[in-house]
Amino acid sequence: MEGKKHNHKGLVIAIILIALISMGTYSFIKIKAKLDYEKTYEYKLINKGYQESDASKLAKIFKDTELEYILNNEISDVYLNIANDKYFIYDQFYDYLNYKQESDKDIREVVERVNTKTNKAYYEDSTPTDVSKKELMLVNKYTYLDETYEPEELVTIPPTYSYGEIGSQKATQSTYDAFLDMWRASHEQGYYLMVNSSYRTHEKQQAVYNDYKKSYGTTYADSIAARPGYSEHQTGYTLDIFEQGTSQKTFPQTDSYKWLVENAHKYGFIQRYPEDKEEITGYNFESWHYRYVGVEAATYIYENNITFDEYYAYFVK
Ligand code: DAL
Ligand code: ZN
Repeated sequence: MEGKKHNHKGLVIAIILIALISMGTYSFIKIKAKLDYEKTYEYKLINKGYQESDASKLAKIFKDTELEYILNNEISDVYLNIANDKYFIYDQFYDYLNYKQESDKDIREVVERVNTKTNKAYYEDSTPTDVSKKELMLVNKYTYLDETYEPEELVTIPPTYSYGEIGSQKATQSTYDAFLDMWRASHEQGYYLMVNSSYRTHEKQQAVYNDYKKSYGTTYADSIAARPGYSEHQTGYTLDIFEQGTSQKTFPQTDSYKWLVENAHKYGFIQRYPEDKEEITGYNFESWHYRYVGVEAATYIYENNITFDEYYAYFVK
């Protein structure tokens, strides 16, 4: 009898002990979780005054260095707005911030300018392009081709499709093949496209640029012609295309031009210097200048109305 009572007492004590230990552990876990949470950037951002949802987004998007920067600066919606831009590139975060501050342009323009380097002066800090990207290589006022660069497989565009001396018009095989497909499709619609200029050597581009410079001065020459090394014509992926018998002035008014604008991407070509993108491309509108970039890139650029410069920064580089 005595022994049973004793046993019962022992059981009660054991249960109480287990309950106390469990409660203690539970509190400990809860306190630890709270302490851990207080160490997170989300908590620190909320503490600073950010809304909970913004704090949570910022903490998810940014890494420690940038989060420290955000914490050490005034509360602003610029950080999230920049990060939410479709073409936000993480490594350029501080460049976006600096340019936003100095220009006060809207976020889309800030990101577009920084991505395309057009927040900086042309030809300053220019770098050689990566020719291994082939039809996706970028040549613009910040990225150039070596004087000696020649495309690998140039083919002659026959006089059926081109002006000038026989054998004078050349392009890469891929560009020519795509052009032929496009030519046939346009011809079925009753058009007759002609190539007026295509591959140009460095020397040829020098001559083209110098002629314009002599006639119009440097500023205007720079808006219509590339300096040697900075022309896409040296890549072999570029064609100046006109409807037969038209000029730079009359071509944009033709149905043929309209067809080209709406269909060139299906064959891998883009209009490289569009009417509303002068500030990004650095060139006046050229209704005739088409660049072969392949169907995927061309379709994306056409459908999203961005320049190749920005496409390159976001998708290729
Ligand atoms: N006209 C274009 C910009 C070139 O010279 O390459
Ligand atoms: Zn051209």
